[in-house]
Amino acid sequence: MQTTANLSELRIMRASMKGAFGIVPTMGALHAGHASLINRARAECGKVGVSIFVNPTQFGPGDDYVNYPRPIQKDLEFLDSLGVDLVWLPTAESMYPSGYQTWISVEEVSAPLEGKCRPGHFRGVVTIVAKLFNCLIPDKAYFGQKDAQQVAVIKRMVKDLDFPVEIVVCPTVRESDGLALSSRNAYLNTLERQAATILFRALSAAKDQYDHGERSATALRATMHSVIQTEPLADEQYVSVADPLTLRELDKVDKAVLLSLSVRIGKARLIDNFLI
Ligand code: PAJ
Repeated sequence: MQTTANLSELRIMRASMKGAFGIVPTMGALHAGHASLINRARAECGKVGVSIFVNPTQFGPGDDYVNYPRPIQKDLEFLDSLGVDLVWLPTAESMYPSGYQTWISVEEVSAPLEGKCRPGHFRGVVTIVAKLFNCLIPDKAYFGQKDAQQVAVIKRMVKDLDFPVEIVVCPTVRESDGLALSSRNAYLNTLERQAATILFRALSAAKDQYDHGERSATALRATMHSVIQTEPLADEQYVSVADPLTLRELDKVDKAVLLSLSVRIGKARLIDNFLI
């Protein structure tokens, strides 16, 4: 496994990778969700690169950039055990040197849901992902369905700016009780951890209702809302029934639909979704 923090070195390493090159962009603190993306990339590409970069520009003032976990040695051992070929660990100073002033904004798709809760977040995500694409030059890039709006925003950017990369979306990896794996789950105490299953339960209730023929988006939103209300530790941020590509809220569910929600539990604001 080749590892570097230096862009010139990275370009030399990248040039030596023959065949299809797949990448998995991450912020580290790796878990089985990240591993599923890496395994998929390994199955589909000759060589696999992973970036670990806690991107300061996607954190808002209230978000915990400074305390975001950075278990770098553990992450590198994990990546080695997964058979990753190349790891890039850029520094914040090298990605955003003094004088940096170029930003990419995907306007409409970034606006609702997570965009509303975290102003500026997607501008930071899209800008860093574009920079990662330009540095790593992937044929394919792997992202998790867990962050559905991030996927929609990145797909739009790739289309609008003609990036020659295929975006591959991988299913959400969950604990046995349905909670989606996330580095933020570490902020939950025992009681909050139990309460956190409310996201999966709310989504499952709405999907059940859909499976029984309900096609009113208002009714599906109301179901998620009422399930969340049964959990005293849960503070609903939003529930949404939207088009998975544009994130526009729907009235009637007559095509592919994204059920998504965000709930604050203790210190953690958790997100989850089902694509149906
Ligand atoms: P990070 O939160 O580290 O996530 C890296 C990738 O892992 C993302 O594509 C995310 O959707 C995926 N992922 C996280 N939890 C998952 C789970 N339980 N199941 C499946 N996939 C999961 O997302 C980011 O980093 C950053 O915004 C980044 C794209 C790297 C840009 O900085």
